[in-house]
Amino acid sequence: EEPNRDYDLTTPITSTSGLRQGLTSYGDAHFSLFLRKVFIKALGYSEDALSRPIVGIINTFSGYNPCHANVPQLIEAAKRGVQLNGGLAIEFPTISVAESFSAPTSMFLRNLMSMDTEEMIRAQPLDACIMIGGCDKTVPAQLMGGISANKPVLPLITGPMMPGSHRGQRIGACTDCRNNWAAFRAGEIDVEEISAINEELAPTIGTCGVMGTASTMACVTAALGMMPLKGASAPAVSSARLRIAEETGANAVAIAKSQRKPQDILTKKSFCNAITVLQAIGGSTNAVVHLLAIANRHPELQGVITLDTFEEIGRRTPLLIDLKPSGDNYMNDFHNAGGMMALLQVLRPLLHLSASTITGQTLGEVLDASQTKLSFAQQIIRPMSDPLFPSSSLVVLRGNLAPDGAVIKASASKYRHLLSHTGLAVVFENSADLAKRIDDPELAVTKDSVLVLKNIGPVGNPGMPEAGLIPIPKKLGEAGVKDMLRLSDGRMSGTAGGTIILHISPEAALPDSPFGAVETGDLIICDIETRKLQLDVSDSVLQARIEKRKQVLAGDVQTRKQRRGYRGLYERSVNQAQEGADFDFLTAGGAN
Ligand code: FES
Ligand code: MG
Repeated sequence: EEPNRDYDLTTPITSTSGLRQGLTSYGDAHFSLFLRKVFIKALGYSEDALSRPIVGIINTFSGYNPCHANVPQLIEAAKRGVQLNGGLAIEFPTISVAESFSAPTSMFLRNLMSMDTEEMIRAQPLDACIMIGGCDKTVPAQLMGGISANKPVLPLITGPMMPGSHRGQRIGACTDCRNNWAAFRAGEIDVEEISAINEELAPTIGTCGVMGTASTMACVTAALGMMPLKGASAPAVSSARLRIAEETGANAVAIAKSQRKPQDILTKKSFCNAITVLQAIGGSTNAVVHLLAIANRHPELQGVITLDTFEEIGRRTPLLIDLKPSGDNYMNDFHNAGGMMALLQVLRPLLHLSASTITGQTLGEVLDASQTKLSFAQQIIRPMSDPLFPSSSLVVLRGNLAPDGAVIKASASKYRHLLSHTGLAVVFENSADLAKRIDDPELAVTKDSVLVLKNIGPVGNPGMPEAGLIPIPKKLGEAGVKDMLRLSDGRMSGTAGGTIILHISPEAALPDSPFGAVETGDLIICDIETRKLQLDVSDSVLQARIEKRKQVLAGDVQTRKQRRGYRGLYERSVNQAQEGADFDFLTAGGAN
């Protein structure tokens, strides 16, 4: 009889072990496994350890990322959860992207991070993967990559920071960064005071403590069913956060065995639940772009979740959460009020309860099992009968100015007459033009003008920076004007407010963009009731301007074709805001 030379038949590696997955190609599969074990044994692992389900843990710690500073403790707790349940945990790094340290804008790096995440999950032997992240672009990037890799993945959020305190008042990043800076600029507070405030705005590690993009994406990820509900809000510095990490480790071993993959868990219903939560929390406009990018990674959902889905759901969903910037409070208040569990109990009539979750339970079963009741007095999560805002905190607008859509956070507008407003455009061609002229005393502008900023879209200023919060011209600000109707093809921080229309598509950098053809003095009509964003210019005039622009912009198009490096890849491949500003070659459309 021939001796057995099938290496994997003579080892105790179980048939579920990730060590066999995606073997590196050395021609002979048995040799590949043999080699793999040679090298992993250099780390001291025993055959017993290697025979367990392997749970990868993505480490996004970086000295440049305070939002992820607790990652080492979370890894330790997650490992404990994995190993108490019979798995083997192996951590590995991906890039770390923090908002304030990612020039030109963190959004420029989101797609790169999604590629890093997808390819490392695919490349390495693991049965399930815990993805630790929290800062704005990280959670979207990890979900995008995880869905595309389609191995069992478990998001683990780092959690929000605690609020700080200044002269008896709570303050927190970054809504209070903006209003205090404005007060300093206006001479209302002096340099000593603004310096003291600077020390308190981010008094602990963790993600921004208001309902900005990071908190929004945490709530949305929980609503998608991808993590324990309390994982959305437990503070970064809390012991609760570490217990969530341990629970995630336990869930990871279970899902490593069941092999439930994100493309199985996530359905249209899960996304509708996430969008319902987005509307109910008055979440960041950025989450619209991220959710579209995430859904478009799923072969069955690509093109199914659209801007219209956000609009339809918004019309029946009230704003229930009293957090900055739409309200007054901080994420730890939301957590103490019962967090996502309490919110979802209130939203229950609007949710798809049959949607699946990471543990295999339906959302309805998760809600049924909870003892959380809104039976104690609290002001943070309102009942449906007493909302902060009746419906549509996020609104989608269309018209000849934005044929492919635009988004406004209507709940963040304190001057509601501006939501239905007609005025003359004052156009800035790009951010540099804006910086040069916005405070010019000669600028022809009134409080009824419509400020237009072009060329901050995905291609135009690569990464679609958060420059959509166009400042009020100084002379109007000094005259007491607090808000104006403002339009751009860019984004705005989730922590900001005002009557700001964003994500106008197609963006101005594209030669056939009607938005690019707006000129100073054109009449712009915004009507929130009919969801219209219209340019009062005849079709023929608009078309003639577009034809002219095609010639003017031909050189830019050529430059983009030749640009080197990641920026070149970005400019040539990024799709528009209503598709998620993802790379066209990363969406579910292509073959794997
Ligand atoms: Fe990371 Fe705000 S800077 S969440
Ligand atoms: Mg932000």
